[in-house]
Amino acid sequence: MLTLLLGQINTADLPPVAPGKGTFWKPMDASTFAPAVDTTFYFIYWVSVFFFVLITVLLVYFVIRYRRRAEGEPTSGAATHNTALEITWSAIPLVLVVVMFYLGFKGYIDVLTPPANAMDVYVTGQKWSWSFTYPNGVTDTELHVPVGTPVRLILQSSDVIHSFYVPAFRIKRDAVPGRYNKIWFEATQPGEYLALCAEYCGTSHSDMLTRVVVHPPGMFEKWMTEAMDVTKGGTVAPAVVGRQLVARRCASCHSVDGKANVGPTFQGLWNREIPLKTGPPLVADENYIRESILYPMAKIHAGYDPVMPTFKGQLKDNEITAIIEYIKEISGVAPAATWTELQPGEPKPPQGTTP
Ligand code: CUA
Repeated sequence: MLTLLLGQINTADLPPVAPGKGTFWKPMDASTFAPAVDTTFYFIYWVSVFFFVLITVLLVYFVIRYRRRAEGEPTSGAATHNTALEITWSAIPLVLVVVMFYLGFKGYIDVLTPPANAMDVYVTGQKWSWSFTYPNGVTDTELHVPVGTPVRLILQSSDVIHSFYVPAFRIKRDAVPGRYNKIWFEATQPGEYLALCAEYCGTSHSDMLTRVVVHPPGMFEKWMTEAMDVTKGGTVAPAVVGRQLVARRCASCHSVDGKANVGPTFQGLWNREIPLKTGPPLVADENYIRESILYPMAKIHAGYDPVMPTFKGQLKDNEITAIIEYIKEISGVAPAATWTELQPGEPKPPQGTTP
């Protein structure tokens, strides 16, 4: 049971992961983030142990050393201050907390900054299960990824706030309704790992468990081909749905071939720096496109009139995701393009490799 909680379950068809790599405090390391996270953890841990022991020992010593020994015995005068001592006990903790902040902040920035060749997977939390959708439309209740490949998770929720947590990878990120949260990881060892919900979300919160299957080289493509065979071609890539939606709902104002129209063209929009009518420019990501669909007046593209109607209540979350995937595709920067081309019988390796 403890092994299950701490995040690693071996099965017969996968090579067993080297046992005993976890410690009393942490599960085994299975992602590129794990060493840095563990270093930070143990730095804070040992600093805390050191000061706990130091303060406790001094406390006991002073209680005994400065106790009042007898009735009528003269007491020592009240101490005022000691500049050298006060500077020392301020400067040393200051240095320590600055080091802690640096390690923590650097790690936080690292997990939020995926390499450009990362493979996208949409993660949806709902009461009470997880689902994982690949850009070619394959959806599964378990997360399957290739070893040694950066994977970018785009998290959504269809009801309340959940939190996707894979202890062995040292990643945790909230899935919040109404926005896309992102995190990435690169698994370093094939095997199966526990993923769970880390945000109390209702009565069956504790059942919101699933597995992350990290495939050895070549096996992920085999799994993907089988997954597509199971659906018998019934899987539709979100980008294909997005193309139809854009043609029906957006094409009168937004071109997809770079031509100017009432609104900016969708071609090349993805990941581009957008000049705004007011405020500093921003990069067009999932949240910007989503906001522009639902609240068109929030951030107006410089050079265009604020005339777009809102699509709030007219487009569902998965339709907005489909439009975003299509914009990525026609922007030519979709690192996941490989997955939309992947057909049963002709597996292709993922583009992603170690950055
Ligand atoms: Cu979902 Cu807790």
